[in-house]
Amino acid sequence: MGNIILTGDRPTGRLHIGHYVGSLKERVALQNKGDYDTFYVMIADAQALTDNAENPEKVRNSVIEVMLDYLAVGLDPAKVTFFIQSSVKALPELTAYYMNFVPYSRVVRNPTVKSEIKTKDFGRSVPIGFINYPVSQAADITAFKANLVPVGEDQEPMLEQTREIVRTFNRIYKAEVLKECKAILPDNKACLRLPGTDGNEKMSKSIGNCIYLADDAATIKKKVNSIVTFPREIEAPGILDGNVLFIYLDAFCVDDDFKKFYPEFENLAALKEAYAKGGIGDGRIKQFLFEVLDAELEPIRERRAELAKNPEKLMEILKEGTKKANLAADQTLTEVKQAMGINYFGA
Ligand code: TRP
Repeated sequence: MGNIILTGDRPTGRLHIGHYVGSLKERVALQNKGDYDTFYVMIADAQALTDNAENPEKVRNSVIEVMLDYLAVGLDPAKVTFFIQSSVKALPELTAYYMNFVPYSRVVRNPTVKSEIKTKDFGRSVPIGFINYPVSQAADITAFKANLVPVGEDQEPMLEQTREIVRTFNRIYKAEVLKECKAILPDNKACLRLPGTDGNEKMSKSIGNCIYLADDAATIKKKVNSIVTFPREIEAPGILDGNVLFIYLDAFCVDDDFKKFYPEFENLAALKEAYAKGGIGDGRIKQFLFEVLDAELEPIRERRAELAKNPEKLMEILKEGTKKANLAADQTLTEVKQAMGINYFGA
């Protein structure tokens, strides 16, 4: 069997440039390489509800927003199967069986879950569904026998949890039903975790420090100008370490951008060297960064606006994809129940 790729996002708002460099770009590259049998992209609405149970309309409205972002960046419904998590019933059933393999102490030790609990301010009322989402994510991945999962770096603990469940299941039930998966991360280190425009280590909707794929040029300009830099005289040596402007440039700019927007320098290495010596103000760097970002985001924004005229078409794509996803997940569920010996009435 060839590669099966699966990934997804929680629909809690529009996607931002952290999603873009951290995972979306990689997905488009994988899609175009074509080295897979099936490529699934899931809108993880059930997972989004684990910390938005009181906000179901936010989740519902974001489904279309996320679909628009997907197609705008170049994911192609002719190559990718898009589906909605909550409409695939095998997923919660698999989750229920997998929960028995995971000690409570193991889920609360998950570093991503731990840090999310801190930022989300649940207080003492962390929903069980939220604590359990890594287990449900294991169901998402294994239901489709996905072996490759293009995600952001913060999802690595979920994949580790998934592999543990796969090994435990296959060992206990002496089966080879479930497949192990690995993450596909971007090579460019700056893309792994893009900081927010406020310098916070993570770009996040809940912190409000994002540049969105749908932002217009004026908004991007305002956000880039709001990035706080180290105060210094223009002649003083520039500090590169931890400089958000340069982290964004590392993630986004290519040599060609210099020809177009900053011909005094040949590439980013040359600009960095000159900046470190002193004499280049942060205003100039912000202008360049804005031009680089806008050149990349403009076509995405335009495609997005075009696609937004016809939301019914996006729902149709999701409906078709969800049908296909159900067939694959039901098949795995049947195999799982057979392996467990709970297939009382045949299949
Ligand atoms: N946890 C992912 C996120 O927060 C979304 C997700 C749910 C996912 N299930 C998945 C990603 C399965 C990859 C594979 O964005």
